[in-house]
Amino acid sequence: MKTPDTVQANPESGSRAALTSISPGGLVIRQKEPRNLEFPFDRLDSYLTPVESFYIRSHFTAPGLQPDSYRLSVEGAVKNPFGITYDELKRLPAKTVVATLECAGNSRVFLVPQMPGAQWELGAVGTAEWTGVPLATLLDRSGLTGNACDVVLEGADRGQPAELPRPPEAISYSRSVPLSKALDDVLIAYMMNGLDLPHDHGFPVRAIVPGHYGMASVKWLTQIRVLEEQFQGYWQTSDYAYWDEVDGIPVRRALSEIKLKSEIARPRTLEVLPKGQLYRVYGAAWCGAADVVAVEVTTDGALTWASANFLDPIRPQAWRRWSYDWKTPDQPGRYTLMSRAKNAAGESQPDKPDPSYYSYVVHHTLPIEVIVE
Ligand code: MTE
Repeated sequence: MKTPDTVQANPESGSRAALTSISPGGLVIRQKEPRNLEFPFDRLDSYLTPVESFYIRSHFTAPGLQPDSYRLSVEGAVKNPFGITYDELKRLPAKTVVATLECAGNSRVFLVPQMPGAQWELGAVGTAEWTGVPLATLLDRSGLTGNACDVVLEGADRGQPAELPRPPEAISYSRSVPLSKALDDVLIAYMMNGLDLPHDHGFPVRAIVPGHYGMASVKWLTQIRVLEEQFQGYWQTSDYAYWDEVDGIPVRRALSEIKLKSEIARPRTLEVLPKGQLYRVYGAAWCGAADVVAVEVTTDGALTWASANFLDPIRPQAWRRWSYDWKTPDQPGRYTLMSRAKNAAGESQPDKPDPSYYSYVVHHTLPIEVIVE
């Protein structure tokens, strides 16, 4: 039997709507503790996701860090290791960026057969404006050694991971970014949409790794450790990793850039639409590596595709909302809608999931079935 804090929903079951429970803030509860809450994507109506609607993905109970005693240490392969307080960090020159965060497990519910893990639908994604200090500023101050190549970001939250195979003891949540990315655009953020970071989103300080799946943007950040070799941590090699191939041999690699994806926010699955009327199909599209330049929509199960209109300009590593006016058929019945994005690198969203990613990176064209009557 399903317990209220592990609510499952799979469109294949045909009973998706009946099984969701909603938090007081209107987010869909995937797990009560640690908190894993999803934005109901059919409510998408603003470019920036309001803080209270932003999905929450936490592996362990959120630690209660206090700004007065907060200290972020920078150590490892550096000549001048140092610690910095919350107030000192806030006095450094700051930068504000807009970035879309997507959990690597977003849309897992669309995988058939069902995969283990939280059954995220469309809303483990959001876009916010993040303010903080470039990680490059802190790394410059630390004096990197000549062989530095990887930067580990560690959070204050600890525990034993739920996903198998799990390490025998409690570990801290940590993830690394290659030095080139760390020096490029990673932000050590203390504000979200102009406000102090909320507790569940990493208060007082988190990393934002623009363009990479959400797992890289470490919350409750307390340690930055520079390495002279690639980090082999649990969330780098076991979880949030995939199978690549080199000379015919499978090799494990860490997930990184967000793949090209578009999602339909409205209509939602099994929504009933009146026949023979104009309906505005609405959604968003994003990609971590290259700008999204086109979105197409099919309303006949991929027989024909028509261009959608963008509602937002191109901004690197942030989504663009789009819409498409559909004249619903005069013939009542069930119709399958899908959207398909294209990017400036000439890529198109695939029509099937890639099994190398197992239960992650679900970015194929996602079917939304509606009822016209
Ligand atoms: N950082 C810490 N310290 N602990 C976590 O569990 N979850 C990661 C990342 N950073 C996590 C973390 C994952 S998997 C995602 S998708 C994003 O945080 C989610 O960020 P959000 O909860 O602010 O949306």
